[in-house]
Amino acid sequence: MSVLVTGAAGFIGMHVCLALLKAGAEVIGVDDMNAYYTPRLKEARLARLNARKGFTFMAGDIADRQAMEHIGRAHGASVSSVVHLAAQAGVRHSLADPFAYVQSNLVGHMVILELCRHHLPALTHLVYASSSSVYGGNEKVPFAVGDPVECPVSLYAATKRCDELLSQSYASLYGIPQTGLRFFTVYGPWGRPDMAYWRFAAAIRRNRPIRLYNQGRMRRDFTYVDDIVEGVLQALARPPTSLPVPHRLYNLGHADPVELRTFVRLLEAALGQSARIELAPMQPGDVETTMADIEATRRDLDWQPRTDLATGLDRFVAWFDAEAALTASVDADPA
Ligand SMILES: NC(=O)c1ccc[n+]([C@@H]2O[C@H](COP(=O)([O-])OP(=O)(O)OC[C@H]3O[C@@H](n4cnc5c(N)ncnc54)[C@H](O)[C@@H]3O)[C@@H](O)[C@H]2O)c1
Repeated sequence: MSVLVTGAAGFIGMHVCLALLKAGAEVIGVDDMNAYYTPRLKEARLARLNARKGFTFMAGDIADRQAMEHIGRAHGASVSSVVHLAAQAGVRHSLADPFAYVQSNLVGHMVILELCRHHLPALTHLVYASSSSVYGGNEKVPFAVGDPVECPVSLYAATKRCDELLSQSYASLYGIPQTGLRFFTVYGPWGRPDMAYWRFAAAIRRNRPIRLYNQGRMRRDFTYVDDIVEGVLQALARPPTSLPVPHRLYNLGHADPVELRTFVRLLEAALGQSARIELAPMQPGDVETTMADIEATRRDLDWQPRTDLATGLDRFVAWFDAEAALTASVDADPA
């Protein structure tokens, strides 16, 4: 049997695929290799996966019903679980290109649900990525899964919350066992060049200034990618089949938020270089603090974040420098 992973050439997708392959699974990876950030980085991740035994890549857009049905006909009988990570990520980009979010996150999520319903007869579990952004501007911290999530402050967050509701309806209507995981600011090697830790590292290395929004007073619950991968695998092994509606949501976050200024100090230490800091006002769509309540995740998924921020940033920087030919060539947005 095999695991279908969408967004396989993405940051978290590559790490999830590597962990599944290491555990002996057959993996079918799907990705459209779009140019939201440089496809060269996605190709480099994919090259690592293609070098592993047990990995099959299918290029395709998850919002393209025919393309997904083709994958269903070709491989569906062997798929026992799906890890659905493909999405248009990033909060700020949703101001510039809203329809990319509707297409990948709403239409794409629906197409994956229909794929599960019609073409994957042996499916036991669909695990999909949601986001801490669904908590919007909630002031009560830490954010718990039972907290209100009716007030998203970005389109990205709205699409992720919609995905949770679409999944709830498909679990209720068709009994498809599903787990949605709300990831909190994931960072690490092979990461995303649109995220602050990468943009800051690139800028500091080139002695360019970095801009700290909300005067650097934002607090983020930075979560190391290996911890996220472990959470995905722990969830995957525990389909919620005993519930009347087999759908559950969990937070995957470090549960120890750090102010951006502290984060920059740790990054400076990892890089061995000082930052030139510009303070800027809050950006539309951003939230001030994120912090995960992970009691339920610990209890039900036996999951525990292990990597502190200093260690995680050291590993990120070691990778960033070791892959300098790749990372220096990525045209990171101005920080
Ligand atoms: N990285 C984080 O901090 C974070 C936080 C919360 C949630 N998430 C969610 O986790 C998932 C993975 O995020 P990531 O950080 O690895 O992002 P990523 O952009 O690196 O990975 C997503 C991958 O999906 C692919 N993709 C996008 N739209 C597609 C489509 N229509 N068809 C096929 N492939 C498509 C992209 O090419 C990319 O390779 C996403 O669902 C994201 O919303 C990430």
